[in-house]
Parts: sequence; structure tokens; C-alpha cells
Amino acid sequence: MSVTKNVYGVLNGTSVHSFVIENKNGTRVQLLEKGATLDKLFIKNRDGELIDVIVGHDTLEGHVERGDYQGVVVGQYANRIKDGKFSVDGVEYSVTCNENGVTSLHGGGEYSSAIWNSEILGDNAVKFTYHSPDGTEGFPGNVDVSVVYELSEDNDLTLTYAATSDKKTIINLTNHAYFNLNGTGSGDILSHTMKINAKRYTPIDEISIPTGELASVAGTPFDFTEPKAIGRDIGADHLQLKNGNGYDHNFCIADYDGTLKEAAVAVADKSGISMTVKTTLPGIQLYTGNFLNGSVEGKNGIPMTQRCAFCLETQVFPDTPNHPLWPTCTYDAGEEYTSQTVFSFDII
Ligand code: BGC
Repeated sequence: MSVTKNVYGVLNGTSVHSFVIENKNGTRVQLLEKGATLDKLFIKNRDGELIDVIVGHDTLEGHVERGDYQGVVVGQYANRIKDGKFSVDGVEYSVTCNENGVTSLHGGGEYSSAIWNSEILGDNAVKFTYHSPDGTEGFPGNVDVSVVYELSEDNDLTLTYAATSDKKTIINLTNHAYFNLNGTGSGDILSHTMKINAKRYTPIDEISIPTGELASVAGTPFDFTEPKAIGRDIGADHLQLKNGNGYDHNFCIADYDGTLKEAAVAVADKSGISMTVKTTLPGIQLYTGNFLNGSVEGKNGIPMTQRCAFCLETQVFPDTPNHPLWPTCTYDAGEEYTSQTVFSFDII
């Protein structure tokens, strides 16, 4: 195993570093200080060729100017908060509404656009840390957050998150990588098979805010309890697929108890690469790149077209601060937030 550090680019006069972790299989993970980004993941396909399964940008300028959260760590609250409003102990907070001026999405982009501090740990891990001052984007608390990316010899990429605040606050952290397991630039992901370990999901209204229902997936296009092609039902006549413009929904992971559980398995038809996602969190967002429209160029100058990638974002349920019965996202002053997500890669 090895970790190497390089200068990736310069932003406002400051060098932004990249890190490459490599294992004995030749699997190579590239990470960036900007947004604590998962930037590249080269892995062998069934023919033994190394392909990059992360869709995104290949310049700092691309990440900063044209990014739609590709590969970044998102916080302080990943996904949406209705009207950007919530209460903690009776105190109402208003956070940045960066989606059409009405909804808070991905914490207003704070954590994902920050340049994080970095530290190499041993020969197979990198730790990123960030300090979010009290009130940034409207969120309470001085929050110290960290994420460690660790690659194993067995092609497990483990993300371990931790955060503490000096004031009671809400926290929901995720990684927003866009995957195409046939390789970036190889077309759409509709023929990947997907299995999601969830009997329920959180339906949304026409502006993607959860209705509050935990609906059964049975008999709907949202039933991924047995593996099926992502594209099989995506065009079905179903209100939720209209509301999300495709899949853009949180699934409630079965048997959630805070320990590491298998949440999803994706398998690519052409490369034979499979990815299993395990997490300690209660939810996972399947987003099928519905809002990519080819207007933004990604790696190698190839436009990022609709459904050229999917995201599996582990999280608490969207808008949890306004649904007190759902698994909590609220942490007392000094109480530690921790979560872990593992992406395991294999060939089938
Ligand atoms: C959201 C999508 C959004 C995407 C990029 C996902 O987490 O659910 O609606 O388009 O992030 O911002």
C-alpha cells in the first residue's frame, strides 16, 4: 500500500493537494482537499484493465466552477430541509435556501466547497478535517468535522466520519460520488443492476420534500429488494418518478440499528465490476443523475448527460429536523456524531 501527495491546483493563491492511495491490486483512489472529494477510483474490470468508475471533473476549475457535488463530502446537512427552517430546543433556525430560493440543499454547499485540512495516516488512509464556524449558512454551533478515507488490500474503501459541536445542532454528512461502474464516459447507467436493502422509502412532493410517509416499495418501481436493472422501471407512469424526474429518493435501510448493514449492491453489465455499500446510517439516496443534461463537460471533455452516473448517498432521511419520529440527526453540545460507510468492489 502507498499514499502519495501532490499539488492538484491553486485556488485564490492557495495550493490544493491531491492524494493517491494504491493497493497491491493496482486499485487507485484519488482524493482532493477541496470538498474532501473522492475524485477518481481506478479499479480492474473483468479483462484486467484499470478503469475510473467516478464521474466528475478532472480539473480544480471544473470542480469549483461547474460542480454539481461530484465526489464531495456534503454537510452540515446533506439533502434537503423544507423551507430551510427547523427548531432545536424551541429555537428556530433559518439556513441558506440555495435551491430555487425555497429549500436548503446540501447545507448550502458549505462543506463541499471548503478546502479541508489533510493528513496522511499510515500507508493506506487520508484524514480530512474542517472547522465550520457557528452560524455558517445559518447552522448552529462551531463544528469540527473529520472524514477518513481508508483503502484495504481487498478493495474496500471505508469512509469514517466524526463531528462535534459546541452547541446543540443538526448533522447529516455524506459523500456525493457519482458512479458509473462501466467507467466514466461509457454511456448511461440504466443497464447496471441495483439491489437496495429497503422495504420502505420516503416519497417526495413536487419540489422533492418528503411528504412524511414511509411508503412500502412492494409492487412499485421502488422495489429493489431483488436485483433489477436501474432502467427497468425508471420510465414507469408513477407520480414519484415524475416528482423526482427519475429516482431521487431516500430508501429506509432494513433492520437499521446503527451497526454496519448492507444497504445496496450495484453491478455493471459491461465491466463486471460490483459495488456493495454498507453503512451505519438509516438511509440511502438513490439519485440517477436526472438533472445532468449534457451542458457540463466532465472528465476528458465528455459531457455529463442525463443518467450517465448514479449516486448512493448514505444519510439520515431528508428533512429529518422536521420529522421528530425519524432516526435523529440532532446532537448535544460536545456529543460526538460518528458514522461509517464502506464501498466494497469486486468482479463478478
Ligand atoms: C439530490 C438531487 C440533486 C443532486 C445534486 C442529490 O442528493 O437528491 O436532487 O440534484 O443531489 O445536487
